[in-house]
Amino acid sequence: MPTVRQLLQFKVNRKQIVALTAWDFAIAQILDAAGVDLILVGDSLAMVALGYENTLPLTLDEIIHHAKAVKRGVKNALIVVDLPFLSYQTSVESAIQSAGRILKETGAQAVKLEGGYPAMIETITRLVEAGIPVMGHIGLTPQSVHQLGYRQQGQSESDRDRLILAAVALERAGAFSIVLEHIPADLAKSISEKISIPTIGIGAGVDCDGQVLVTADLLGLTLRQPPFAKAYVDLRTIITQAVQDYSADVKKVDGE
Ligand code: KIV
Repeated sequence: MPTVRQLLQFKVNRKQIVALTAWDFAIAQILDAAGVDLILVGDSLAMVALGYENTLPLTLDEIIHHAKAVKRGVKNALIVVDLPFLSYQTSVESAIQSAGRILKETGAQAVKLEGGYPAMIETITRLVEAGIPVMGHIGLTPQSVHQLGYRQQGQSESDRDRLILAAVALERAGAFSIVLEHIPADLAKSISEKISIPTIGIGAGVDCDGQVLVTADLLGLTLRQPPFAKAYVDLRTIITQAVQDYSADVKKVDGE
């Protein structure tokens, strides 16, 4: 099982980190057996598993419930769990309480939170001091959907500077890794070269230190895919066909 320290070695050894999201036992077991390095219990489970419109309604209790199921399915991968919206932004104390609950109750090794400089710096510093490994997340941050939408970030010079500053500050605060979501590939490359902790990209080009995808997108289960997400299989069609075949078998005895 890679620890957060070993994850740092991936970058030193120029080894790409393979990360995917999971929301239940079965998916987690499959990803882990397939050799994924890092499993993220992302708050995207709000949409892909719970049917919410966006990530905002998800509660700490809900993600803990799902993370426990994921943990039961994982033998090897490092498990990181998202801190849901409003479980960490109101105060450093609330962040420590929420992150502490995640580590205590789920058995996961780390938490992820969205936000940059200066908003999240004290929070990350204090979480790390409390022994809680933190993964950062900058660029498109879905918990800010009502401010940012789902647009690509880092397009203007000032926004690029803001994101570079945030990445450097997150590393200084003690984050062990940073997700870079939906930013230009050349910006993700510059950030990855500038910091010594691994960057994990999603819609941020190939020059990050690893990649993550929402597994429901990879499997072709979601109806609204982000433009940067590649479906490697169309499970929605395969499942529909299987259900129709089953249905036809059941109905064969109609009227007999
Ligand atoms: O919630 C999630 O699945 C995520 C990934 C998009 C990185 O944060």
